[in-house]
Amino acid sequence: MPDAEPRRLYIETYGCQMNAYDSERMAESLAPLGFAAAGSPQEADLVLVNTCHIREKATEKLYSELGRLRQIKQERQRQGRPPLRIGVTGCVAQAEGEELLARAKGVDLLVGPQDYHRLGDMTRRLLDAGDTEAAEPLVAMDLPAQEKFRALPPRSLTRPSAARTSAFLSIQEGCDKFCTFCVVPYTRGKEFSRPVADIEAEARRLAAAGAREIILLGQNVNAYHGAGPDGREWRLGRLLQRLAENADIQRLRYTTSHPRDMDEELILAHRDNEKLMPYLHLPVQSGSDTVLKAMNRGHSAVDYVRLIERIRAARPDIALSSDFIVGFPGESEADFQATLDLVAEVGYARAYSFAYSPRPGTPAASADKAIPAEEKRHRLARLQALLRRQQLAFNAACEGRNMPVLLERHGRFAGQLMGRSPWFQPVYMRADAGWLGRIADIAIRKAGENSLEGAPLAARPA
Ligand code: SAH
Ligand code: SF4
Ligand code: F3S
Repeated sequence: MPDAEPRRLYIETYGCQMNAYDSERMAESLAPLGFAAAGSPQEADLVLVNTCHIREKATEKLYSELGRLRQIKQERQRQGRPPLRIGVTGCVAQAEGEELLARAKGVDLLVGPQDYHRLGDMTRRLLDAGDTEAAEPLVAMDLPAQEKFRALPPRSLTRPSAARTSAFLSIQEGCDKFCTFCVVPYTRGKEFSRPVADIEAEARRLAAAGAREIILLGQNVNAYHGAGPDGREWRLGRLLQRLAENADIQRLRYTTSHPRDMDEELILAHRDNEKLMPYLHLPVQSGSDTVLKAMNRGHSAVDYVRLIERIRAARPDIALSSDFIVGFPGESEADFQATLDLVAEVGYARAYSFAYSPRPGTPAASADKAIPAEEKRHRLARLQALLRRQQLAFNAACEGRNMPVLLERHGRFAGQLMGRSPWFQPVYMRADAGWLGRIADIAIRKAGENSLEGAPLAARPA
């Protein structure tokens, strides 16, 4: 039974889609305590900051935000209003632990990514402490605990977060790959795959709540190896096949993949599974073998290009996307040029690129061949100019074509809807709001760098 008192929760989410998914689950787990969404931190009784540790900037943002929240908290205290509680969750909570509590005052809760199932109880204890300031912050940071998914309440059928046309579903967490630049193995812990039956049950609930597309998530999603209903280990290709059997689910995607885990079954799923959309985010990070080796990626540039050839042979119209890091320690101009060459050879529909950011505790951070910030900025600008040209060319090639678009939400302008093409491009159009949640055939009239504009032809049956 929900407690009678109405309470307000505000969650700020930084970082990747897995954090977005976690934020939804946390909100759902606090609903039984009477928490509904607040429009701003000022209106909230509890603010959770779900943090990201991947680059230095992300972590710095957290500390300035915590300073701001503390001011709101002190202001409320002065006014004699009920206290604002502040919780820090996510990857910075895990990485910095008690150090964070020493650096940022006013934090009441610190919860690592594997402990979200304990958030409800911890919050109840805070509330039971009443209006007095909690003497000590409550901390949960058990990295190996893998019981979270089972212990969290099942997906809500009514909350707006669950009622998305395109819904996230985490199927795998953690990473055992230890790329030398990356904090994820330390913040999310060892690789873990959820059982197929649990994923199917969650997918059914999401579909019952209105989801027509499911995006399977994992820090290393294609390393998935969960227990199947037959007692054997299932890989991702097979799981996708099983989920495609649910008639309400019309589209499937998955992210983020590692080149080393693209097995034959998964490649063939792109040929055989009609619901699996022709878009693949497959980060390569660099086109230089020297840098790939120093990054501990476990494959060469040629391995990657050959892999792309196999994937394209299975699904010729597949659109590719990648992450890139420039200015990794020791990266020479020739190494960087090799990245530009690889991009030119592969041809990307979309990409995310970053200047290398040294992260505490990672092997690369202690390398002594740091690239000057100015040079990193310069290389990043050169790479991004090339990637932008490719993205625009990919979008421009869609002009004049008709394509099925899953209509996800209202656009910014009255009467406008937004959906996604099979290749993950946002498509904007004027169309009947009654079509939301359905796939419609859209004539693409105009292409921009980041999106397409079109005119509706017809909606397919719901
Ligand atoms: N599991 C995914 C990546 C997760 S992190 C993979 O293996 O590809 C998302 C992206 O952030 C990475 O692909 C990488 O491009 C970038 N990134 C990670 N650590 C970084 C660092 N220290 N500096 C700059 N970019 C980084
Ligand atoms: Fe990080 Fe590498 Fe694991 Fe990706 S594969 S999460 S980049 S360590
Ligand atoms: Fe950031 Fe953690 Fe995701 S470090 S990118 S929130 S896994």
